[in-house]
Amino acid sequence: MNASNTARAYGWVARFFHWTVAALILAAIALGLYAGSLPKGGEAQLQAIFQTYSVHKTVGVTALTLAVLRILWTLTQKKPLPLHPGRRLEGFVAETVHWGLWIGMIIMPISGWLLHSAAPGGFARILWPLGQRLPMVPEDAALAERFAAFHKLGWLLLGGLILLHILGALKHVIIDRDGTLSRMAGNPERAPEPPTATSGVLPHLLAALAGIAIWAGAALTIAAAPTKDGENIPASAPQAAATSGWAVQQGTLNIEATQAGSTVSGRFDQWQAVIDYDPESQTGRVVVNVDIASLTLGAVSDTAKGPDFLNAAAHPNAVFEADILPATSAGPSHIARGRLTIAGHAVETDLPFELTVNGDEAQAKGSLQVDRRDFGIGTSYGDESTVGFGVNISFDLTAKRQ
Ligand code: HEM
Ligand code: HEM
Repeated sequence: MNASNTARAYGWVARFFHWTVAALILAAIALGLYAGSLPKGGEAQLQAIFQTYSVHKTVGVTALTLAVLRILWTLTQKKPLPLHPGRRLEGFVAETVHWGLWIGMIIMPISGWLLHSAAPGGFARILWPLGQRLPMVPEDAALAERFAAFHKLGWLLLGGLILLHILGALKHVIIDRDGTLSRMAGNPERAPEPPTATSGVLPHLLAALAGIAIWAGAALTIAAAPTKDGENIPASAPQAAATSGWAVQQGTLNIEATQAGSTVSGRFDQWQAVIDYDPESQTGRVVVNVDIASLTLGAVSDTAKGPDFLNAAAHPNAVFEADILPATSAGPSHIARGRLTIAGHAVETDLPFELTVNGDEAQAKGSLQVDRRDFGIGTSYGDESTVGFGVNISFDLTAKRQ
């Protein structure tokens, strides 16, 4: 069989590319959907999900590599001539779908890779040694969500185009009973001789534009979708009055998250707090530095500290820098108002807490509910079925005036 295409049939190189890329793309769709459907519970199940996504991504980047090589090869090749040049509309639709497929086989893996690169803290790894993140893509939860939305709309579009393409191939086999499929799949010797009618360049150009328009429509739909508010970090809180230092004697820093509907509790064993507080004015300042690696969280400690969540390797510390102010409303007596930075994302935060000062001893106790999405944590867990959005952080400490 010829390596190159002839006027009657595709050569073996084009066939090899067509069928391997087709199989990889269908496999990527199946794996993506399968990964999303896996049960989400304990650590073992999370690992299974990560592994499936890793295979999904690896299959996707392999498809991208082969698709690029395929395009380069196709540019050097002539195209087998149409079998029914008179059927203008049918030819136009088939060619539009081909253009949609060409674009889709490039844009889908790229959108997946962009999503993978923008997701803060990373995600399941691509199983290859050639680097993970695309250059110049910032780690940004909102951006990752955009790419994810495009990736999800994109697979539906690509799936629809593949379906049309397969239906077209079946029509040639069942209704037309012509040799269209044998040009790509069967013996090229048996492929029928096409008529030597020539067509102008305009129909091809229009089909290319139609294919581009399909994907541009999808991109514009996602770009025009409203953004989630609250991504911006407000200016920092006002400074509090002059103070005196307090040293923490003992204390606990706990967290509670929801995993597959049930609560998992854990604690950070290593953290430091620098506290200034003036009992007269009831104002002060606190800076808390938390060692993420010191977290224990039931059976999912490693997952929680891993790249998909807190990513201790990239962001070893969480920091809370706040002004202490007397509370103005009912409830706990004080508020720590400032900036909480977790996994590299800073969010303006109010932490209400109860403070009792007894001579040189102080006891403080408070809790706070945060939304993991505000810190770009677990962006790939777009709903609450595996890991809830809300995480409760609570502390209880005693401190001594210095
Ligand atoms: C699995 C079922 C599939 C069947 C039966 C099939 C069949 C065919 C056939 C018969 C042709 C030649 C059409 C002609 O000569 O005019 C063709 C071309 C083509 N197919 Fe498929 N295909 C399948 C899947 C896919 C998939 C999944 C993709 C990509 C996502 C794809 C992309 C293409 C493209 C871009 C062409 C045009 C090739 C060129 O002009 O060089 N196909 N396919
Ligand atoms: C041939 C290319 C690809 C196709 C057809 C494809 C298709 C899919 C599908 C069908 C899903 C499930 C969507 C859903 O649950 O609604 C998915 C999810 C995903 N894909 Fe791909 N994918 C491709 C390549 C890639 C690549 C190369 C990467 C990364 C390097 C990637 C990263 C992801 C991620 C992170 C998700 C989860 C998105 C989320 O749930 O937010 N994909 N993909």
